[in-house]
Amino acid sequence: MKTRISASILNSDFIHLKDQIIEVEKAGVEQLHLDIMDGHFVPNISVGPFIIQTCRQITSLPLDTHLMVENPDQYIEECVNNGSTGISVHIENNPNIHRTLQQIRSYKVKTGIVLNPGTPIESIRSVLDLVDLILIMTVNPGFGGQSFINSQLIKIMAAKEMIKNLELKPIIEVDGGINSHSLPLASQAGADLFVIGTAIFSNSNGISAAINELDMSLK
Ligand code: DX5
Ligand code: ZN
Repeated sequence: MKTRISASILNSDFIHLKDQIIEVEKAGVEQLHLDIMDGHFVPNISVGPFIIQTCRQITSLPLDTHLMVENPDQYIEECVNNGSTGISVHIENNPNIHRTLQQIRSYKVKTGIVLNPGTPIESIRSVLDLVDLILIMTVNPGFGGQSFINSQLIKIMAAKEMIKNLELKPIIEVDGGINSHSLPLASQAGADLFVIGTAIFSNSNGISAAINELDMSLK
């Protein structure tokens, strides 16, 4: 089965970023996933919103932007102007999350809400009508190449149940440690879209073989 992939470039080979983006696009990924980190919300610094513009010049794929920053409101407009087609923000440490989501919506891009592994699914209930996607972290955010946290499978199932009960239709995206072992588990639990970095960009057989392997695991 064809896996719906949002390819995270965090662990790609930045010297060959253009070639790698062209390759994942040819291999049929649905979106690119861009991780913006500020060294405060998470203990790592990655890239700023400029990378969105760089990617936009290389590809016409949707640019799924994941903000791991202390003050997301400050960067939303810049992300949109640089070419983001979707912006996801964390529920944690944001007393004005409703306003933040409204702000993203006002730019007519996809609106996403993100939950860390320690955050209960109930915490997003009151803002679910404002989101196009629920992004469930299956690792603690900040780094690529970590192991999938199995306990998050229950959260994926609970998210599926919650949106069904509320008669809403956001998609469920998962992020972190997705490979050919965890992918079928997350899929069975109810995830629709998979953020995948290391398993695509660090497979010694190359990018298209890696994506084939992922597709095969969903059979
Ligand atoms: C982690 C990031 C992820 C990460 C996924 O904070 O949000 O997008 O790059 O990478 P892998 O697939 O290596 O876990
Ligand atoms: Zn991410």
